[in-house]
Amino acid sequence: MSLALATAMLALIYGSEAYADSANQVHTFWNPIKFAKLVATCGVSIVIGGDRKDPSPECCEVLKQFDLQFLCLFMAPIVRKAIDVEKLIYAALKRDQSLKPGTDCGVFVLFVFLVSLAEVPVFRSRRELPGNMDVELGDRHGHSTNKEVEEVNDCPIEEVKYTVPITDDPSLPVLTFRTWLLGIVSCMLLAFVNEFFVYRQNQLYISTVCVQLVTLPIGRFMARVLPTKKHTVPLTNWTFSLNPGPFSLKEHVLITIFASAGAGGVYAINIIAIVKAFYHRGLNPFAALLLANTTQLLGYGWAGMFRKYLVDSSYMWWPGNLVQVSLFRALHEEEKRPKGGLTRLQFFFIVLICSFAYYIVPSFFFPYLSSISILCLFFKNSITMQQIGSGLKGLGILSFALDWNTVSGFLGNPLITPAFAVFNLMAGFALMVYVITPIAYWTNSFNAKKYPMFSSHVFDDQGMPYNTTRILDPQTFSINMAEYDSYSRINLAVMFAYTYGMGFAGLTAAIAHVALHHGKDIIELWKKTANQAHDKLGDVHTRIMKRNYKIVPQWWFYLIFGVVLVLSLFTCEGFGRQLQLPWWGLLLAMAMAFLFTLPIGVIAATTNMQPGLNIITELVIGYLYPGKPLANVVFKTYGYMSMSQALSFVADFKLGHYMKIPPRSMFWSQLVSTIIASTMHFATAWWLLSSIKNICDVEKLPADSPWTCPGDDVFYNASIIWGVVGPKRMFGSLGNYNQMNWFFLIGAVAPLPFWGLSKAFPNCEWLKYVNIPVFLAGAGSLMPARSVNFVMWGLVGFIFSWWVFNKRKNWWMKHNYILAAALDAGIAFMGVLTFLALGNFEIYGISWWGGVMDDYCPLAKCPTAPGIVVTGCPVIS
Ligand SMILES: *[C@@H]1O[C@H](CO)[C@@H](O)[C@H](O)[C@H]1NC(C)=O
Ligand SMILES: *[C@@H]1O[C@H](CO)[C@@H](O)[C@H](O)[C@H]1NC(C)=O
Repeated sequence: MSLALATAMLALIYGSEAYADSANQVHTFWNPIKFAKLVATCGVSIVIGGDRKDPSPECCEVLKQFDLQFLCLFMAPIVRKAIDVEKLIYAALKRDQSLKPGTDCGVFVLFVFLVSLAEVPVFRSRRELPGNMDVELGDRHGHSTNKEVEEVNDCPIEEVKYTVPITDDPSLPVLTFRTWLLGIVSCMLLAFVNEFFVYRQNQLYISTVCVQLVTLPIGRFMARVLPTKKHTVPLTNWTFSLNPGPFSLKEHVLITIFASAGAGGVYAINIIAIVKAFYHRGLNPFAALLLANTTQLLGYGWAGMFRKYLVDSSYMWWPGNLVQVSLFRALHEEEKRPKGGLTRLQFFFIVLICSFAYYIVPSFFFPYLSSISILCLFFKNSITMQQIGSGLKGLGILSFALDWNTVSGFLGNPLITPAFAVFNLMAGFALMVYVITPIAYWTNSFNAKKYPMFSSHVFDDQGMPYNTTRILDPQTFSINMAEYDSYSRINLAVMFAYTYGMGFAGLTAAIAHVALHHGKDIIELWKKTANQAHDKLGDVHTRIMKRNYKIVPQWWFYLIFGVVLVLSLFTCEGFGRQLQLPWWGLLLAMAMAFLFTLPIGVIAATTNMQPGLNIITELVIGYLYPGKPLANVVFKTYGYMSMSQALSFVADFKLGHYMKIPPRSMFWSQLVSTIIASTMHFATAWWLLSSIKNICDVEKLPADSPWTCPGDDVFYNASIIWGVVGPKRMFGSLGNYNQMNWFFLIGAVAPLPFWGLSKAFPNCEWLKYVNIPVFLAGAGSLMPARSVNFVMWGLVGFIFSWWVFNKRKNWWMKHNYILAAALDAGIAFMGVLTFLALGNFEIYGISWWGGVMDDYCPLAKCPTAPGIVVTGCPVIS
């Protein structure tokens, strides 16, 4: 019985494909959700197996809505395997839905009629169960191992339905000794290593996936050797064991959560670094410790408040989590190898090894492969052709790369991104790079030709890099007005100016988009209590979670929020206001982050794109409180990080939701891992910054010292430009770029026409998929991502998320997310290996033509206005 139900669900999955093939117009008719409802409600009355049963009244209701004529007309073989046509017809007749002869079912009627007279089950053999592999798959997808309740996978998102099992074993151990030990050790280790190498010339970054793979055998080993004896804690009746059984998937998930907290950077450490190494000012270590911890934890409080909408709703599906789910399943689930094929785990390791082995080529022997531009090979002396052809500093026409890092390094893994998001993002990119930039540059708007076409630096009026030292008064840390007036305004490359514009538009568009498309749901949800709400938005996963586990009470989050808020206020106002930010600034940063968490969360949860608040926060505090570089970066960190932390907590909760981790265990793991990670990052940074003389100061360091802090000067320059010079002298009345403010308005109204059109023409499918915030994110993410990254990302995304997803669905279901994880893991391991084996000994590659990471477009960065002198560029007269 349950097997038949399972097969029915399978039919659902395969069926949609079969239908689309048999008749195009069926596409709109075929509605898996409706079909799932039919199977769910009518169950025994229509699926194979068991006796014929009269349909229940509810089943009749559903049958009435269902166009059986249509279903019968295009009955896919797979549907026939699941649904007992005889029973369906019987039920339909009871419901008085006559079926015309000529349809599959209608012809059947005659047979069935005769057969049922004779009561000979002739057709049983024809409708055998599907092959092995299908049963196995169907078993996983189709029914819960939890025997009392038969669950139907009613999850409305296809990708989730294919990937996330609806089974759960609530008895699996979760927060065990192994979890704590491995989790804390990997969190501390990653935090230490990744922070240590931030300040070094040759950087090493160990990513979470490395730890994820390494901890699995260790966990299994511990399960084998640790004593299983139960211990009782004195004075309580609480018992625990060092080894409560086999190493479980849930323990592994939590260890990975710990590791990822450690691996991710702590943004506030940048502040500590520039204060100590660039500004050379005093900083109370306790203030620094609190700063690191509070910026990371502030968002946790309201992550809890948004759970209802961003976690429990099945439409908020967080695409990135599916990779994790697939990988964990491949690592933990037993799978029989199909004949002539591979199991997921074998597939994973084969791709991992290939990706690992190949990555040594672009990372070490032949870095030229990470950005090849054909035009530059032919036009060695033309600035214009190099600007058009360069993938790193130009429009990137005919440029490409043979390096997975180029594909996924800046824009994320394209295999995870749903097709509509790929299209929106690429459309935004095309508008920016193929339309706006060329027009703006070659019409010389904003004096574009004086500066490089693509650059994220700031320039003075002479086309030279802006000398921030010159206008900074080192005594007061404020702007030296006399110098500034005699020097120059701040100028940007024209593309970069528009990037800011797109960033502004993206924020207002995010709010407008979410208000238009999701506003009604959100308001409704807010009015109801959590319990009622889950009826409307919940799916099978929400039901299982609610049934099997205690939820985290809301007041836990309020309490954390209260405590962290008080500590943050103390961090800013205490310690003699070393951090410059007054209390109202903190509250404002928090309010901004809070306001954006839901809109940006909705976008991140549905498209895998997450715009940041770094620009807008810099801008706001720069206007309100100019001349205070530290206040500027502290405000930025509180605003930017608390939103992005809130969303990463929410995303982790969703991962827990998919993997059926008890929410309370998830809560504690996240809290503890965040505190450990921030403290460890802080301790490592503080130790290095205090003990190494002249760290980060390239001029004063010994020539061969590795402590050059590449990357920190970007943060430092930003603090001067936004904090000391101030946005008023860039985007305000005293700057060159105040037209860019129109983009706030453009972003706010742009979603409106598309929303209106999609309401007016509900049959026009593509209109529904226009997503202006993602479109603008595509237009605004240039720098640090470059044209070549976009082109390759779009290409790979198109192939896998669109073509494979639509045309090779079986392959996609089984392999896509595993492929995504394996490719990333391969380059992560090779990065660590080359560092340990070679970089550590100062060996960085081989010196030959292809051994430099450059696209050989040296002229692409040259200005084309007459009379600008830049080294390496011809002076145009
Ligand atoms: C920047 O200005 C400072 C102070 O005026 C000067 O000492 C320094 O040489 C300038 N740097 C460059 C690169 O021009
Ligand atoms: C930061 O500014 C200094 C000069 O003040 C300049 O030499 C350096 O290149 C700038 N760095 C970045 C990343 O803009």
